[in-house]
Amino acid sequence: MGGMNGKSNGIRNIVVLTGAGVSAESGIDTFRASDGLWEQHRVEDVATPEAFERDPDLVQRFYDMRREAVQTKDPNPAHFALAKLQRELDGNLLIVTQNIDDLHERAGAEDVLHMHGEILNAWCTSCDVRSRWTGTLIERPACPECGDAALRPDIVWFGEMPYRMDEIFDAIREADLFVSIGTSGAVYPAAGFVRDAKSLGVATLELNLERSQGSHWFDESRLGPAGTIVPEWVQEILDNKG
Ligand code: APR
Repeated sequence: MGGMNGKSNGIRNIVVLTGAGVSAESGIDTFRASDGLWEQHRVEDVATPEAFERDPDLVQRFYDMRREAVQTKDPNPAHFALAKLQRELDGNLLIVTQNIDDLHERAGAEDVLHMHGEILNAWCTSCDVRSRWTGTLIERPACPECGDAALRPDIVWFGEMPYRMDEIFDAIREADLFVSIGTSGAVYPAAGFVRDAKSLGVATLELNLERSQGSHWFDESRLGPAGTIVPEWVQEILDNKG
């Protein structure tokens, strides 16, 4: 498989994995930066099922805060460039995101696969229905579907299984190119996708502010802010459509 810029080498199907870094320039905190979320909060206090069991108010308050914040932020050029690529690529672009914000969708992307859940959904642990939710959950509101006060954030916590893994593996199997954007490669199974792709002979590219824990697995790593290097890469692909 030729270079990453699609120079008439038949790159049709692409899987893009995004992480917190793609939303950093929109003003949403990443997790592991020196001032990141996991510096401000202990994972075991807010992002595990055990934490929710132990202190549901603390957990609900944490996600209520993030739900409110996300609604004040806007997509950045990286989100818009990926939506453009999805529209104009001859083949298929699947955006798999670890992010719980809706900035890819607000930039115009479709069928975004949120493998770690969505902050603007509430999940009823009684009737198992997910409802669009923009307000708070700490006051234990009734589920719009069944009426039970059993709503939790629709977030995949540590120790829980990410969503739609089969679809992700199927898409990687069909892909010509796997691209990772704005993720540290610290969390599995997402951090392992690059190796899955390589083992299937799929070309791999990393676009990140700094080298990630998995950089050595990628055929190519380009370093810089996503808002700059993602639009540049997208333009290369579209300029070289076969
Ligand atoms: N442009 C590109 N990359 C950036 C930018 C930027 N403007 N700002 C930061 N980055 C990079 C950082 O260099 C880092 O490698 O984004 C990455 C963010 O890493 P993390 O904070 O670890 O976030 P992420 O990889 O998405 O975390 C994975 O961990 O906490 C869990 O479930 C949570 O989905 C999350 C998962």
